[in-house]
Amino acid sequence: MPETASNSLSSFNCVMKVPSERLLFIRLGKADFEQVRSVETAGCNDPWTDTMLKDELSHANAFHRGVSVSAAGGLCAYILCRLQIGELHIYRLCTHPAQRRQGYAEALLSHALAAARSMGAARAFLEVGASNTAAVILYRRAGFSVDAGRKKYYPDGDDALVMSRQL
Ligand SMILES: CC(C)(COP(=O)(O)OP(=O)(O)OC[C@H]1O[C@@H](n2cnc3c(N)ncnc32)[C@H](O)[C@@H]1OP(=O)(O)O)[C@@H](O)C(=O)NCCC(=O)NCCS
Repeated sequence: MPETASNSLSSFNCVMKVPSERLLFIRLGKADFEQVRSVETAGCNDPWTDTMLKDELSHANAFHRGVSVSAAGGLCAYILCRLQIGELHIYRLCTHPAQRRQGYAEALLSHALAAARSMGAARAFLEVGASNTAAVILYRRAGFSVDAGRKKYYPDGDDALVMSRQL
């Protein structure tokens, strides 16, 4: 069942290019594996394996959402998170390359932060490649700041930034 955008874009100053009333936030589960995989393989340099994606989409304590602009339309972007002991952990956020700079990632992030706060979470955490400029700018705009760095954390040698924000 799609969730509406109302009350979900208030976590930070999210300026939408696609009008927020056109956005459909969709709860994702294992039945959505093919759509998620399609965006993941097109959009991520380091795509998760099918097994990782299937396991994550089946996880019980998860907050997995996609965004689309019509019920019949495809998935534009998705966010995969877990809610654990009062914390939101953001594992994956990806927008299809053909759909970028439309505000989808920012809208999904805002939606997840607002939902986590309403479910009692106090802080949100994520990890991102230091050279992933698009994502780092996006997360800083969303109120995240860097807590720590991890040198050469990723297989390609990139450093990781651990970022968090209060909810
Ligand atoms: C990072 C990513 C999720 C952004 O998705 P998006 O839907 O294009 O992002 P948005 O349209 O919501 O962008 C919001 C803001 O983030 C910043 N931003 C996004 N992409 C950017 C880029 N390529 N360069 C600089 N800033 C960027 C901008 O401030 C942008 O606002 P603006 O368009 O008004 O300037 C997307 O590039 C992606 O899927 N990358 C591959 C996967 C990934 O790295 N995920 C994050 C780590 S898990």
